[in-house]
Amino acid sequence: MIINGDGTIGGKIEEAVCFDDVLLKPQYSDIKSRSEVDIGNNLAGQHYYLPIISSPMDTVTEEAMCTAMAGRGGLGVIHRYNTIDEQQKMIETLYNQISNIAVAIGVSDDFKERATACVASGASTLCIDVAHGHHTLVEEAIKTLKDKYGEKVHVMAGNVATLKAFNDLADWGADSIRVGVGGGSICSTRIQTGHGIPTLQSVIDCAKTDRNALLIADGGFKVSGDVVKALAAGADFVMLGSMLAATDESPGETYISADGKRYKVYRGMASKEAQMEWRGKTASLEGVSTTVPYKGSVELVLAELEQGIRSGFSYTGARTLAELQTKAEFIKQTSAGQAESSTHILRRK
Ligand code: IMP
Repeated sequence: MIINGDGTIGGKIEEAVCFDDVLLKPQYSDIKSRSEVDIGNNLAGQHYYLPIISSPMDTVTEEAMCTAMAGRGGLGVIHRYNTIDEQQKMIETLYNQISNIAVAIGVSDDFKERATACVASGASTLCIDVAHGHHTLVEEAIKTLKDKYGEKVHVMAGNVATLKAFNDLADWGADSIRVGVGGGSICSTRIQTGHGIPTLQSVIDCAKTDRNALLIADGGFKVSGDVVKALAAGADFVMLGSMLAATDESPGETYISADGKRYKVYRGMASKEAQMEWRGKTASLEGVSTTVPYKGSVELVLAELEQGIRSGFSYTGARTLAELQTKAEFIKQTSAGQAESSTHILRRK
């Protein structure tokens, strides 16, 4: 029995696919070298060689990550779990080094003061960073920033999971929209609240938009193949947390375990640990804190990702993102297919 929101009974529960449910069909390709492929895209008037953005999280993005991301052709978004002064100092350090400085802000308390200070210090992208972006406070915040800055500031907002939400945020004035609710590797929103949509399904749905806002797929990426799937489904950029965490450029100490392995902390911004540190109290806990094996320089991670993405474009026979999105054909795989899609010899005993 299905009880609908309006109290009626009946209807059909929609199905949703996640990254591991699908594969892209290999197609005829005349691409002779992966270097012929252009995987880049534009945002805030800048061309990005890589369609990759690092998450505004306190264990992912501060100055060092922004510099490294820019150096490899991607974008970093400085997190908002700091004082306005601290955020301004980071922006000032980056000013001139980087042509588009992106920082996260919230929707309450000091958000207007923070936005004004960040733009005065040189930020040109403001990311309205809240867990449930289809919300009246986000509407107010987007409109406030757009009224004040117009085209001068690129407004990124989110997170949303449905086409209706994507269109609403675009109509309120958002230039780019983070798509994905509940899919992050450190996220417990679906466990805590029962809400969410697999990130790939949200991308498929939101890509049906006729609005001009950029679609940033956010949360749940494990491997470069997931990135290719999101781009093929209609994402303009992807946002990564765990894949870029525990690198030299991510904030935080590197620890060495008793058996000599190095690791760093990676935590959700709604985890108990993060909330206690930044607010001194906890509200709804919708994230966890964990450790991730140390990966070395993020440049190596990005270089490997780039190779996987280029190769992915080539399997579809696509030289550009637009071509990938036009040509891509998805198939759904069974659970036996999922097992075959992994490096299954590693599981044989
Ligand atoms: P990951 O790349 O799968 O690790 O997911 C990173 C994304 O998770 C971020 O870009 C945010 O959208 C989201 N996120 C960050 N902190 C939390 C949290 O505490 N709970 C739920 N989602 C979070």
